[in-house]
Amino acid sequence: MRAFCAHVYGPSGGPRSVVAALGVVEWWATLRRGRPSSGNGHDTARPASITVSLRPKATLGMFAVCSVLHWIDKELQRLALQGLLRSRLTRTGPQGACCKIEGKRVINFGSNDYLGLAGDHRLAAAARAALRREGAGSGASPLVSGYSRYHRRLERKLAAFEAAEAALVCVSGYAANVGTVAALVGPGDLVLSDAHNHASLLDGCRLSRADVRVYPHCDMAALERLLQRAVGYRRRLIVTDTLFSMDGDLAPLPELADLAERYQAMLLVDEAHATGVFGQHGRGLVEFFGLEDRVPVRVGTLSKALGCAGGFVVGSQVLVDWLVNRARTYIFSTAMPPPIAAAAAAAISIVRSEPHRRRQLLQRAELLREQLRRMGWDIGRSASQIIPLVVGTPQRATILAAQLFLRGVFVPAIRPPAVPEGQSCLRISLTAAHSDDHIAQLIDALAAAG
Ligand SMILES: Cc1ncc(COP(=O)(O)O)c(C=O)c1O
Repeated sequence: MRAFCAHVYGPSGGPRSVVAALGVVEWWATLRRGRPSSGNGHDTARPASITVSLRPKATLGMFAVCSVLHWIDKELQRLALQGLLRSRLTRTGPQGACCKIEGKRVINFGSNDYLGLAGDHRLAAAARAALRREGAGSGASPLVSGYSRYHRRLERKLAAFEAAEAALVCVSGYAANVGTVAALVGPGDLVLSDAHNHASLLDGCRLSRADVRVYPHCDMAALERLLQRAVGYRRRLIVTDTLFSMDGDLAPLPELADLAERYQAMLLVDEAHATGVFGQHGRGLVEFFGLEDRVPVRVGTLSKALGCAGGFVVGSQVLVDWLVNRARTYIFSTAMPPPIAAAAAAAISIVRSEPHRRRQLLQRAELLREQLRRMGWDIGRSASQIIPLVVGTPQRATILAAQLFLRGVFVPAIRPPAVPEGQSCLRISLTAAHSDDHIAQLIDALAAAG
């Protein structure tokens, strides 16, 4: 193991090394006192008693001076010993099927650039043209002077693409979710939220100060029971991801629309991972299920299949007018830079004109899921381009990620709180840029590591 760590850690062995970032240092510390078991969630290692520090001395010195922040150091060490410490890896070059991470060339299964557009020259050309005309920043919030012709053009294009009356563009998908939920409900209202919803929906619920009830993941009977009991509330709102970002499974949207209508609740869906990928025109799972007229609030991102950054909401003009007046994350934040708005508009044109990207992606994803199941991997209920390999403990996830990395394949380990305890996984994110050969190399690396 020492040799393995030395090999990955490299001669300098600094805290920014790949192994530290993948969390293997703390896993190794545990290993020295007893091997973790191979079963899901049953770790036989004794409690760790040694201290693992991943920061350079200078940083520690700074912490000593800031004695009121001493507790942070202890908390970080606790996270490290639990296999839950997070740090960042530096990528060089554009997103794509392959990239350099911490200087090592790898096949990249760790991006949400599902259609392979983030590095597309047409997006860069659109951004460059806007940069020349408008500059880099928007300079103010949209309600002051930050709303440019590029934002207006993008909103019109989004509304047409999504077959909706109107669209609103926000600085991020996170901001779109938080601002929209909190604008729709408040004290005296009720939100019903799927247990696996993205953090941005949860944070929107918190900001709203409405009552929140969480129903078990995709459990429509439980949701109906909650709706039956939800009397005395001013408004009711059901919120759900359409394609769950860590599980890769689909929300039962037809049933959700039925329940929302039967109990007169508003329905907000987050299409972050489905936009551009699902549906005949790439509008997402609402289109896939033919529910465009039955879902009043649809949120999406420009940051994933559209290869840019930002979020959006589509729906009626009244909805958008309300959000312009009430969504705090929209009102109190500087507008998206115009070059990004221009690039996102170019991405929408590509989604429309190149449907083969999403078709090929979904076909390849189906084949990969079958292959992984045959190899004995637990991929949960994945039905999409997001395929988790559920391994149980954070330590197992991080060591598997490191083993793949050594073989030139990057698949990020996902650990609590992003997934529930015992559900740590490697999240394979397939994109249209991956070839059959890249997938074959992933399979070989998994076979060698597993
Ligand atoms: C389901 C879901 N919704 C919203 C977001 C936030 O989107 P953005 O990254 O554009 O802020 C994410 C980001 O990962 C997500 O997975």
